[in-house]
Amino acid sequence: MAALPKVEVAAAGAKQSAVINFLKESPKNLLIGGKFVAAKSGKVFESINPANEEVLALVAEGDAADIDEAVKAARGAFEQGRWPSMRPAERARYLFKVADLIEAHSEELAELETLDNGKPIWESRVVDVPFAAETFRYYAGWVTKIYGETNPSDPSMFNFTLHEPVGVCGQIIPWNFPLLMASWKLAPALACGNTVILKPAEQTPLTALRLGELILEAGLPDGVVNVIPGFGPTAGGAIAAHPGIDKVAFTGSTEVGKEILKASAGNLKRISLELGGKSPNIIFPDTDMKRAVGSAMMGVFMTQGQVCCAGTRIFVEQGIYEQFAEALSQGAQKMTLGNPLDPKTKMGPVVSREQYDRVMGYVKIGKDEGAKVAAGGEAAGGKGYFIKPTVFTGVCNEMRIAREEIFGPVAATIPFKDEDDAVLQGNDTTYGLAAAVWTRDVSRAVRVARRLKAGTVWVNTYGVLDPISPFGGYKQSGFGRELGRYALELYTQVKSVFVAL
Ligand code: NAI
Ligand code: MG
Repeated sequence: MAALPKVEVAAAGAKQSAVINFLKESPKNLLIGGKFVAAKSGKVFESINPANEEVLALVAEGDAADIDEAVKAARGAFEQGRWPSMRPAERARYLFKVADLIEAHSEELAELETLDNGKPIWESRVVDVPFAAETFRYYAGWVTKIYGETNPSDPSMFNFTLHEPVGVCGQIIPWNFPLLMASWKLAPALACGNTVILKPAEQTPLTALRLGELILEAGLPDGVVNVIPGFGPTAGGAIAAHPGIDKVAFTGSTEVGKEILKASAGNLKRISLELGGKSPNIIFPDTDMKRAVGSAMMGVFMTQGQVCCAGTRIFVEQGIYEQFAEALSQGAQKMTLGNPLDPKTKMGPVVSREQYDRVMGYVKIGKDEGAKVAAGGEAAGGKGYFIKPTVFTGVCNEMRIAREEIFGPVAATIPFKDEDDAVLQGNDTTYGLAAAVWTRDVSRAVRVARRLKAGTVWVNTYGVLDPISPFGGYKQSGFGRELGRYALELYTQVKSVFVAL
């Protein structure tokens, strides 16, 4: 058995006593059937604070045996429980309650997220936690508005449709927005009456477990939400292959997305995949340069660049390329990198040693490919996985740093000649998650937005997401749309009923 974590050291700087108390209850157990239980194997793994490399908590390590138990609990809650068949207004009330509880515990959740993930506290406070609450509230509103239709059948028949839940859903999420991804997955699934097995990423299991506690506090029936931390190939793989799971929703790497699709074939699970990106942010000269630079910085450096829709390929019209790259590099150099619990910190560490090595590997690849480091290009040194915000200039779209998802604070700036060239280069990628265009010319903005092959296009802004609007990928960025009313399609199936009159 691993030694107990030194919580005061690992969580130094945390102000919320609720966070310290949560971390001290060690190990953190799996949520199955309304109870927190140890893994059947008895195994635990460490969740690390990436800012100081200390162990925050020991977490029960779920694997296939625990997924089996969770499937039984979720199946029972679906087939025998009240959840799918209760009055919609009542189910809505539970989801409103979860939103209220997230808000009531917002500072606690923000600190816990920052400790486990490394993202700066301002982000956890302004983005992750409030957006999570809003997502639950948004889908709570949908519960009472899931309509079927009556169809113009032959007069001897009455035909109508029912939009019914899919059943037991497995949801596998990444570590970049742990609480928020849990909310994007859980809220629509629950709104539609499904029951869920959620597998948080092994790097960041803590806020999902705390959310599990809040969900119990909100009074959802046992087994409706099960939370099983564990590793990808074991716990995640067991979800993807399990014959008792009806649907899998996954956010993560394209590589694993393909594995999940293959594993799902056994019982033809419904699959939705939200995968990687290499999104183009296209800057024309007729734009507010100051805003474009600031937005491009946020677009590529937020959450240390570990964002699936990060604007990592910044295409700048050749006439303003030098000036833009210079301003971006200066901005990057001024970003305060440091203790993520400090409200003044703009950038924290990347999430793990593995991610640190991967990102630093790409920085080296960029240099070897002949791109020029205009800012950063090195680690910050000392304890923690800190990497300086990095801007490469002189990049061409064929280089690996322009083609492969780096998932770290690394921007590739690339010049373009004209509108056609911008669209051609922007679309020249295997991904298609998001894109942006900056111009004051409305016609050009709409033309380019239409031509870009991406699931989301921003005009004169970057990274705006909202529960009201669908999010998902073209090409190898995946399929299915989360958020908005589109997510209801992921979590319902349509039944047509004919009644002979
Ligand atoms: P990953 O895709 O391996 O992990 C994401 C989730 O999938 C985690 O919960 C993990 O446990 C699970 N998983 C891993 N292997 C699995 C398997 N065989 N079956 C079922 N579930 C499995 O991503 P990883 O390794 O953390 O990061 C590698 C790269 O993936 C990043 O550098 C980035 O490029 C990309 N990525 C993209 C994300 C996005 O939001 N689109 C999020 C995280 C990573
Ligand atoms: Mg992986």
